[in-house]
Amino acid sequence: MRKLTVSASRTYDIIIGSDLLDSAGALSAKVISPCRTVIISDDTVAALYSERLIVSLKAAGYTPELFIIPHGEESKSAESYIRILNFLADMQLSRSDCIFALGGGVVGDLAGFVATTYLRGIRFIQIPTTLLSMVDSSVGGKTAINLGAGKNLAGAFYQPSLVICDYSTLATLPDETFSDGCAEVIKYGIINDKPLFEKLKNPILPQIEDIIENCVRNKRDIVNKDERDNGVRQLLNLGHTAGHAVEKCSDFEISHGSAVAIGTVLITRAAASLGYCTADDVQQTEEIFKAYNLPTKCPFDAKSLASVAQGDKKRAGAKINLVIPFGIGSCKLVPTPVEELEAIFSKGL
Ligand SMILES: NC(=O)c1ccc[n+]([C@@H]2O[C@H](COP(=O)([O-])OP(=O)(O)OC[C@H]3O[C@@H](n4cnc5c(N)ncnc54)[C@H](O)[C@@H]3O)[C@@H](O)[C@H]2O)c1
Ligand SMILES: [Zn+2]
Repeated sequence: MRKLTVSASRTYDIIIGSDLLDSAGALSAKVISPCRTVIISDDTVAALYSERLIVSLKAAGYTPELFIIPHGEESKSAESYIRILNFLADMQLSRSDCIFALGGGVVGDLAGFVATTYLRGIRFIQIPTTLLSMVDSSVGGKTAINLGAGKNLAGAFYQPSLVICDYSTLATLPDETFSDGCAEVIKYGIINDKPLFEKLKNPILPQIEDIIENCVRNKRDIVNKDERDNGVRQLLNLGHTAGHAVEKCSDFEISHGSAVAIGTVLITRAAASLGYCTADDVQQTEEIFKAYNLPTKCPFDAKSLASVAQGDKKRAGAKINLVIPFGIGSCKLVPTPVEELEAIFSKGL
């Protein structure tokens, strides 16, 4: 078992280990005295893991209720948000009570946004069950729901009280969802952790605890410096400017992790052609994504990608902070006029 501490607007621990669900009650009780609590989960995760969490919470003295949403991104909606708020209000959950988020990033983002707004803030504990949510979304306090106009358009920064990362839950994750998480893991290596990148050349599962800790430490360090995403935290967008455009151009047929892999290779190739990094960096980047069953070829042209990426930032003179690899393990933010995106993307194709 490993433990890391985040020191942002709230100080909290991230505990990483195997079979932690069974001790989640005892671990939580050290941070939040046993109280009434609502576990928010999706139907898939609840069927697999809610019973163990409920048993563990009851044994520690909590009184848990379960609220289940359908699995999938569609549930990160205003409708689910209001339904949960009404459920909490009907059961008269108070500010001394708490919420558990049991699931992937969808559940974590939604439950976190509920927690930040219900009674102007109620404590919540993240129990991530996807690789992506373990290494990325459960840490750092970004909470959100989607609106019709786009993803994550309503949200808040609100840190959890504890993150319990039980990686044995990964055993039931579909392969494609696991690969999606691997894209974000690889991302940390390229941003600023060459040793992590090297470790990833060996199979990930036998070293999963170490790898998750590595990623969480990277995210923790970034969040400690820039909780509100005004500076270094934007480095975590590596591959995401082009990646989001790939996702949208595919009408979300291409998964987020796959799009990030494509976007990262694209921006690395563009960086090499601009002389920022080498052809070998590009080759290593492509090879690592391929080794994790992630795509590297972009099916869209630069014009389509740029017009999506520019989005509402199209105002003349607007700049976007592009994350540029200057080598594996050393990325920098480069303010770039949005008008230059198309030319940069075309160098990356
Ligand atoms: N807050 C942040 O900083 C941040 C960062 C990155 C991504 N996100 C958000 O995270 C979301 C994506 O998260 P995700 O990739 O975890 O997706 P997800 O929560 O939709 O989970 C993916 C699928 O896996 C299933 N699942 C989850 N755990 C499982 C398990 N252990 N066994 C079997 N099935 C399981 C879920 O039911 C779901 O169908 C997006 O909404 C994205 O915007 C947030
Ligand atoms: Zn991402």
